[in-house]
Amino acid sequence: MRVIIEKDYKAMSKKAALLVASQVRLKPDSVLGLATGSTPLGMYDELIEMYNKDEIDFSEAKTFNLDEYCNLSPENPQSYHYYMNDNFFSYINIPEKNINILDGMTDDVKRECIEYDMKIKRAGGIDLQVLGIGPNGHIGFNEPGERLNVKTHQVDLAEETIEANSRFFDSKEEVPKKAITVGIATILKARRILLLASGKNKAHAIKETVSGHVSTQVPSSLLQTHPEVTIIIDEAAAELI
Ligand code: GLP
Repeated sequence: MRVIIEKDYKAMSKKAALLVASQVRLKPDSVLGLATGSTPLGMYDELIEMYNKDEIDFSEAKTFNLDEYCNLSPENPQSYHYYMNDNFFSYINIPEKNINILDGMTDDVKRECIEYDMKIKRAGGIDLQVLGIGPNGHIGFNEPGERLNVKTHQVDLAEETIEANSRFFDSKEEVPKKAITVGIATILKARRILLLASGKNKAHAIKETVSGHVSTQVPSSLLQTHPEVTIIIDEAAAELI
């Protein structure tokens, strides 16, 4: 694992965008695994700026998002479909057909999950997987537990995740209780992984990720088993390492 500590959120975002940009420049038809949440927002802004300056071209890139809430329509501003269009896709030149996001509205979850994994495989696998991290060490929506379902699957969100994500909703009651997420096996199959974290409330999870025991109780600790992981964090998130 390579850990890069940047001064603050802005510097972390810039460094992350540079890494994504270099991937796309070296391989224009890269398959990118993308994350949501507040952490990658600055990185998306930086990438949009690079695109506006003609420094990066997404016309051949393909994307697969990590996760989506169940039962939120793509028009719902809290859905990850909406988030990705609103914060990234509508500002760059990625063709719509190259964008993949799990359908949280599906009435056949099992099939949706199997097809998503197959689509990733058919695309040649993920070249660069961008990850955020939950304060409990979740990646995507792979929550801590005694066992992990390693393929794309539906999850019951942990109480602390519902609590943490309630800041995006009017009330905690509105946070969906279920989501669909790409599993740990798919994440670990990515050729390169970029994990981002910012702020004090991620410091404990980062410590466990970098130097804790590898355990399903901290899903991000499984990244220690991957040969090509870069962690870019700000000083606050690095406080305990
Ligand atoms: C959500 C997402 C994760 C994300 C995490 C952290 O639960 N499913 O993919 O990494 O939140 O979010 P934030 O960056 O807002 O702290």
